[in-house]
Amino acid sequence: MNAPILELKHVTRTFAVRRGLLEGQALLRAVDDASLSLFAGESLGLVGESGCGKSTLGRMAVGLLSPSAGEVRLRGTPLHTAHGRRNRADVVPGRLQMVFQDPFSSLNPRLPVGVSVGEPLAARGVSGPQRREAVAEMLRLVGLSPEHGRRFPHEFSGGQRQRIAVARALITRPDVVVCDEPVSALDASVQAQVLNLLRDVQERFGPAYLFISHDLAVVGFMCPRILVMYLGRLVEESPREALFETPAHPYTQALLASMPVREPGKRVPPPVLSGELPSPLQPPSGCAFHPRCPRAMDICRREAPPWSELAEGRRVRCHLYR
Ligand SMILES: Nc1ncnc2c1ncn2[C@@H]1O[C@H](COP(=O)(O)OP(=O)(O)O)[C@@H](O)[C@H]1O
Ligand code: SF4
Ligand SMILES: [Mg+2]
Repeated sequence: MNAPILELKHVTRTFAVRRGLLEGQALLRAVDDASLSLFAGESLGLVGESGCGKSTLGRMAVGLLSPSAGEVRLRGTPLHTAHGRRNRADVVPGRLQMVFQDPFSSLNPRLPVGVSVGEPLAARGVSGPQRREAVAEMLRLVGLSPEHGRRFPHEFSGGQRQRIAVARALITRPDVVVCDEPVSALDASVQAQVLNLLRDVQERFGPAYLFISHDLAVVGFMCPRILVMYLGRLVEESPREALFETPAHPYTQALLASMPVREPGKRVPPPVLSGELPSPLQPPSGCAFHPRCPRAMDICRREAPPWSELAEGRRVRCHLYR
C-alpha cells in the first residue's frame, strides 16, 4: 500500500477545566491515544456521539490544535515541533483545510464572500487578478455564479453558505480536508445536495477527506472506511460494508440499532443505547463503555481492552475479541 498522506500517531489531547470554586482545575482527556492513517484521495469516516472528541481530533489533524502527546504527520513531516509549536510555515498552508458545521465560522460577515473564498490564496501571495479568476471558477464549481462573490454571507441560505465554505476550503487544492459535521446544521432536503457536492469536488481535485459526523447514515453514505469513537477513544475501525453487516464493538452495534429504519414495514429494534454518555472528566474505569454495555464482563471494569485485529483493515477494542 502507498504511504499515508496524513498520520495520527498515539495522539492525546487534554484540556485543563475548572470544576468548581473549591475543587480547582481538572484535566479533561478529550482524545486519548488515537492513531489513524489517511490515504490520498480517500474518505475516512469518524463517527460517535456528541462530545466524544471528534472535533478535537479533527482540529489536531489540520494543525489548528496541538496534541498534548503523540504526533500528527503530513507526508511524513510532523505538523508540530516537540514543544507544541506549529512547524515550519511551508509545511502546512493550503495543504490542510477544514469545513465546519457552521460556515459562518470561516466566512467573515463583513466581507463579500468572494474575498473570503480567495483568502487562502491571498495568504499564499497569489496576485489579485489570478485570485479573482480562481474564485469565479470555484464559485461556479460549487453551483453558484461569480456574481455571488460580491454578496455578503447573510444574503445566502444555509446550504449556499456551506457551498461557499467548500469553495474556500478547496481553492488551494488541499491534500486533506477535514469535514466536521458539514451537513448537521442543514435541512434534510439540502443535506444530500451538499454531500453530493463534496463527492463531486473530491473526484475533480482528489483531496482526502476525514469526514466527521455523529450520524452513522451520513458517514456510511460518504465513506468506504469508518472509525468509531467513544468517549475520547477510537473503538472500531472497519470497511463500511463489514461495519454495517457485522458491527463488532457493542457500541457500534448500539449505534446501528438506534439508526432510524427507513424501509417501511421493518420492525424498529428496541433502544439499545441506554444511559447517559459519561463525563470525559471522570471516565469509567477499564473499558469506558462498560456502564452502558449489555455484554460487560468483570474484566471490562478493570482493564481497558487493547486493539484486536479481526481482519485486514478491521480492528476493535473490546475484551470479547481477545
Ligand atoms: N477548548 C476546550 N476546553 C475545554 N474542554 C474542551 C475544549 N474543546 C473541547 N472540550 C471538551 O472535550 C470533549 C470533546 O469535545 P469535542 O471534540 O468538541 O467533541 P465532539 O466534536 O465529538 O462533539 C468535550 O467534553 C468538550 O467539552
Ligand atoms: S470491553 Fe467489555 S464493556 Fe467494553 S465493549 Fe467490550 S464487552 Fe462491552
Ligand atoms: Mg464536534
